[in-house]
Amino acid sequence: MNLRHATLHQLRIFHAVAQHNSFARAAEALHLSPPTLSLQVKQLSETVGQALFEQLGKKIYLTAAGHTLAEACADIETRMDRLSEDLEALRGVERGSLKLAILTTVKYTVPKLLGGFCAAHPGIDVAMVVGNRENLLQRLANNQDDLCIMGQPPEQLDVVSEPFADNPLVLVAPPDHPLVGKKRIAPKRLASEPFILREPGSGTRLTSEKFFASQSVTLKNRLEVGSNEAIKQTVAGGLGLAVLSTHTVTAELALGELVQLDVVGFPLIRRWYVVYPRGKRLSAAALAFKDWMFEHQPKAGRAR
Ligand code: PGA
Repeated sequence: MNLRHATLHQLRIFHAVAQHNSFARAAEALHLSPPTLSLQVKQLSETVGQALFEQLGKKIYLTAAGHTLAEACADIETRMDRLSEDLEALRGVERGSLKLAILTTVKYTVPKLLGGFCAAHPGIDVAMVVGNRENLLQRLANNQDDLCIMGQPPEQLDVVSEPFADNPLVLVAPPDHPLVGKKRIAPKRLASEPFILREPGSGTRLTSEKFFASQSVTLKNRLEVGSNEAIKQTVAGGLGLAVLSTHTVTAELALGELVQLDVVGFPLIRRWYVVYPRGKRLSAAALAFKDWMFEHQPKAGRAR
């Protein structure tokens, strides 16, 4: 056995098959054909001199040698990620790249900041993914981005988080709703109102559900809608009430298309945080963007 003949390409393919537990799914993830994957894994297993997978029925399982190799592959990938971060840092802020993952509620604020930043640093390539809390937690766990901008940082992951801005959640109604103009509405009074809720996995939904549960109120869920934009239209159309980030409804409140209800306990106070895995070496571009955000959105202090 001479492992020097193993290529990074083979190790990457093998690791993907091991992680997906399937040649077909790994092929899809890597945009390669299953026969290519089989061939590369076969060659790798010849180099190693031992079988890496065994097939029982329709399922494949790692052998003991496969497990050992998969662990080494994980180490190699972490090292390669580090290496690209270091090389990225050496390229400096003017020629780097920046990968951001932001919450659906953040997309009303951060892209504007990004516009100014890109104008000041035209050499930086930026990629930005918008997702809900659940999507972002997944991306964070997989170290897929330079910076995540999200709500409450996850306790189960070892991350660095800096509060970036306030994100109050408000309860909105159509302008002709009977509760409009009423003072200090008790949360219990809302139990009979139909609600439009965000999809499961949304931080907005999680926070409002927690609040109403703490008040022993079960909401009447009329509709579940996976977009703040669509929820606004549905509320304005009179289908129900909704809890939304105040950043998503600024224009509609100003135009009187939606009205904020005065409910005891609201607004629910939430914050956005800039989050990244602890130990990650931020690229020069990521550091510059982080500083830019805090400079241009000086809201929520900077304690850890
Ligand atoms: P989300 O974001 O509802 O789009 O998940 C809000 C939050 O987590 O604060």
